Amino acid sequence: MSKLIIGIVGAGKLGMTLAKLALDASYQVNIAGSKDPAKITLATSVLAPEAQPMYTRDVIEKSDIIFLALPLSKYQNIDAKWFAGKTVVDSMNYWWEIDGKTSNYYYDEQQTSSEKVQAYLTQSVVVKAFNHMGYHDLASMSHQQRVIVYAGTDEIALAKVKQLIIDFGFVPYYIGNLHATSQLQPGGVLFGANEDMIGIKKLLNK
Ligand SMILES: NC(=O)c1ccc[n+]([C@@H]2O[C@H](COP(=O)([O-])OP(=O)(O)OC[C@H]3O[C@@H](n4cnc5c(N)ncnc54)[C@H](OP(=O)(O)O)[C@@H]3O)[C@@H](O)[C@H]2O)c1
Repeated sequence: MSKLIIGIVGAGKLGMTLAKLALDASYQVNIAGSKDPAKITLATSVLAPEAQPMYTRDVIEKSDIIFLALPLSKYQNIDAKWFAGKTVVDSMNYWWEIDGKTSNYYYDEQQTSSEKVQAYLTQSVVVKAFNHMGYHDLASMSHQQRVIVYAGTDEIALAKVKQLIIDFGFVPYYIGNLHATSQLQPGGVLFGANEDMIGIKKLLNK
């Protein structure tokens, strides 16, 4: 079976780190910032050589699975229809310094940010993953078998993301549906976790 083509929307700290992890695992990677792809060519050539800079729409169209690695307050700038039929990995977090403090849209005890992303992307399947660990920890070499916690409900999409987590060099831990991601997002017990399975279970009191 041929490998999935990875698309990354957001070419900043997290997006470039995910691109490098995917390239190291021999995936083909397409990546976009918010502007002309020429603007990220130099950074890509240094941080994730072989990743293909493209416009956001092309990244989504030409890739099988799309990582959202842009500020949470920006994803609704992208037309939801472009994502129709795609598996989307939501790796975003609400960060008030970036996303603003004035709106309570992103800070809502009833609905996690991933549930909001899924509500926006009505024709796609959203899985949450790669949001709880800082980019420097994701990028660092470790002898520990560190865990990436993931969440969602679609079995096929979950299986794809579980395999990516393994291929990127981490241990997958399934936590439940997108509502359960309250534990992964800022304020949750797992936010910031750079732990092995024992450490993750300890944080979850399991
Ligand atoms: N940094 C971390 O350690 C970390 C860890 C886990 C999760 N996260 C989450 O990951 C997301 C990105 O964080 P970051 O630290 O990587 O931010 P960052 O370094 O500021 O990068 C953000 C990227 O998103 C791009 N972007 C903005 N609007 C876009 C659009 N409409 N279409 C395509 N790309 C767009 C920006 O492009 P331009 O430069 O062209 O505007 C930039 O490349 C945030 O939600 C953050 O909470 C971050």
